[in-house]
Amino acid sequence: MAVAEETQEKAEIVQQADGPPAQKPWIPTVIAQDLHIVYRVYGGAKGKGSATAALNRIVRRKPGGGVREVHAVKGVSFTAYRGQAIGLIGSNGSGKSTLLRAIAGLLPAESGHVYTNGQPSLLGVNAAMMNDLTGERNVVLGGLAMGLSREEVAERYQSIVDFSGINEKGDFITLPMRTYSSGMAARLRFSIAAAKNHDVLMIDEALATGDKKFQRRSEKRVRQLREEAGTVFLVSHNNKSIRDTCERTLWLEKGELVHDGPTEEVLKEYEKFTGK
Ligand SMILES: Nc1ncnc2c1ncn2[C@@H]1O[C@H](COP(=O)(O)OP(=O)(O)OP(=O)(O)O)[C@@H](O)[C@H]1O
Ligand SMILES: [Mg+2]
Repeated sequence: MAVAEETQEKAEIVQQADGPPAQKPWIPTVIAQDLHIVYRVYGGAKGKGSATAALNRIVRRKPGGGVREVHAVKGVSFTAYRGQAIGLIGSNGSGKSTLLRAIAGLLPAESGHVYTNGQPSLLGVNAAMMNDLTGERNVVLGGLAMGLSREEVAERYQSIVDFSGINEKGDFITLPMRTYSSGMAARLRFSIAAAKNHDVLMIDEALATGDKKFQRRSEKRVRQLREEAGTVFLVSHNNKSIRDTCERTLWLEKGELVHDGPTEEVLKEYEKFTGK
């Protein structure tokens, strides 16, 4: 509870700093403070990839040696507020997914802090789904895993399936998930996650995998989720998705936050950088 109090306090400070109070109260949902995330990879030693180099590594291996560190997020600080949709952009390997995992509490901070107000839910391309179970069972399991009751799942079941559009081309929802295309699976994952109002919803690339029609539908849902007082983080390599859904964007490069500002301003810089 101390964290909630602290964030409330910070909200007031920010409100003062921002001049005249905005129409809605500025309630922080996620605060990252000089956050550093380091992955430790065991058994990965430096050296050339030749067979002799590999043999040498095995023969000369020291106990406790061979730990490589990947410094994936370097001193990132920002505050996200309720009602904001925030885009996360940057090259491959720049630390976007790592940052979201840290916010979700799945990765420990090497140093610095992450405070969250409410329960963050991470909806990633790898979100857990049981491939051998039918889409139907996955909807139920996914709903229960998000904390819905059996009755709530039953109530929302049809709208989840309709939203996903899985059944538009036949009765696919009763087939095992492993028979779905990657786009179909991503759509179902998004539909399950979007069936609940989240305090903090983090979407990693999910929108980019659907077709045009589904993209439009999911962008609309992201806007609704935002209005329903949550905070949405969206990672995407599709600048249009970011433009259409987010008013604020964070740009990460090599683990560092290079720009945090209004989407149009940040994307302009980013597009200059990527040469588009
Ligand atoms: N499980 C892991 N173990 C070790 N290093 C990792 C792990 N996951 C990611 N990394 C490293 O951390 C860095 C950031 O990776 P991350 O997945 O966060 O990038 P990203 O911005 O999401 O990239 P993309 O746009 O390709 O999804 C990369 O250098 C990557 O190699
Ligand atoms: Mg990623």
